[in-house]
Amino acid sequence: MIWPGKKGAAPHARSSPGAPAASRPSAAAPAIARLGAKSAPAAAAPAAPRAAPAAEQPRGDIKTDLKVELHQKLLDRINLAALESMTREQVGRDIGDIVAEMLKEINHALNLAERKQLVEDILDELLGLGPLEPLLKDASITEIMVNTAFIVFIERAGRIEETKARFADNRHLLRIIQKIVSGMGRRIDESSPMVDARLPDGSRVNAIIPPLAVDGPILTIRKFAKTPINMEKLVSIGAMPEACAETLRAVVKGRRNVLISGGTGSGKTTMLNAMSASIGEHERIVTIEDSAELQLQQRHVIRLETRPANMEGRGEINQRDLVKNSLRMRPDRIVLGECRGGEAFDMLQAMNTGHDGSMTTIHANTPRDALSRLEQMIGMSGLEISPKAARSQIASAIQVVIQLERLSDGKRRLTSLAEVTGMEGETVLLQEIFRFDRQGIDAQGNVIAELKPTGIRPKFMEYLGARGIHLPPHLFDPYRRMDSAA
Ligand SMILES: Nc1ncnc2c1ncn2[C@@H]1O[C@H](COP(=O)(O)OP(=O)(O)OP(=O)(O)O)[C@@H](O)[C@H]1O
Ligand SMILES: [Mg+2]
Repeated sequence: MIWPGKKGAAPHARSSPGAPAASRPSAAAPAIARLGAKSAPAAAAPAAPRAAPAAEQPRGDIKTDLKVELHQKLLDRINLAALESMTREQVGRDIGDIVAEMLKEINHALNLAERKQLVEDILDELLGLGPLEPLLKDASITEIMVNTAFIVFIERAGRIEETKARFADNRHLLRIIQKIVSGMGRRIDESSPMVDARLPDGSRVNAIIPPLAVDGPILTIRKFAKTPINMEKLVSIGAMPEACAETLRAVVKGRRNVLISGGTGSGKTTMLNAMSASIGEHERIVTIEDSAELQLQQRHVIRLETRPANMEGRGEINQRDLVKNSLRMRPDRIVLGECRGGEAFDMLQAMNTGHDGSMTTIHANTPRDALSRLEQMIGMSGLEISPKAARSQIASAIQVVIQLERLSDGKRRLTSLAEVTGMEGETVLLQEIFRFDRQGIDAQGNVIAELKPTGIRPKFMEYLGARGIHLPPHLFDPYRRMDSAA
């Protein structure tokens, strides 16, 4: 049985459609007994601090809230460990009764079909990833941030809000984390207290636990977008104007090397993914990531993922190893999910040696900053290379740098498209083709801004033209009204 209490000590039995009470010796009754025993009237028994009252979550999904609430109440009453030895059917029968009871308590009427669905959902929660399940299923949530058992934030429409979801305690949270990472053959414990993993649906997971996380386990989930955001969508939601999208499509198609720069969570991977759609079907693409997130649509794609060290601290395969290996796989293009260290050197070399049209992302605040970061990363490769040599390698490898930002209103926007035009002395020359013109903030806190052409016609226009890709000059005309600059 799933709740502690004397087996069979049923003060009364209740029936439910299709399942005679007699066939369920451990069913609802002990739960009802326990109701009185543990939490008194459940509606008046918040078992742990609830950080955010419902009123503070005006945009919350009612169904999600109800599921979260029922799930919390169930957690207060049931013995989670016992769940593991029961079948879904057994648990389902028990839960059906207790849910009906709880709905009555909170005065929430549901028809039979709705109740059945709710029980199914709650089962998923209990047998799946616990309190995370309703959040994972809610498509409007893009990120889940669990800061120890009782504090769970989400991101919705670019804004962070606190939810009512919580875990029974930190051990429960740790169990869920372990369930996630062990499913991927990874582990997390005191000796190896942080891990990157993925959910079966592709969502990216990071977990860090004590002693590194001071207050308890911390779990961050970047949810996998079921329908990936493509270029058209980026234009329609105002992330960039069509003129810019058209330029980027041509840049990718015409095999220019692109560096996508941005802060954490600014939309770099999303942009990389969207841009990759312009790569031709006949090209051989190798993607390299720490945690595979990219969803390239082409058929000829090879996905490589790094591997952390094993228990003995051996066997690590890092991005640099994979970039080097990819060069022996006859790639036409290499797409590196994120450039963070010594692999920068190998990636730039690949870009300089025939793998045109390769792309990567980098954490930086401006295109200029992105180039300096690259230079630092070349230094991390352990090779003795002068700053001038490093810069000239960058200048010949990268042709386009785009900058992404998550603005104060939560919107993610492209805020610069710049072109690397060469070197002057020891300086890499960078010129902006599209520049973000910020005008202010409206009464609702929305940023009023527009991405505008600077008037400079990019040098790559000629390069692309010579390869049959013609960008109309009006795209770069600052006096022409921009189509969909939100
Ligand atoms: N233009 C956009 N508008 C709305 N949401 C977006 C946009 N771009 C990305 N997102 C969403 O924002 C979240 C972060 O995006 P993404 O993973 O691409 O960021 P990132 O810069 O790669 O983050 P990290 O630095 O953590 O790797 C995702 O949930 C994604 O679906
Ligand atoms: Mg990313």
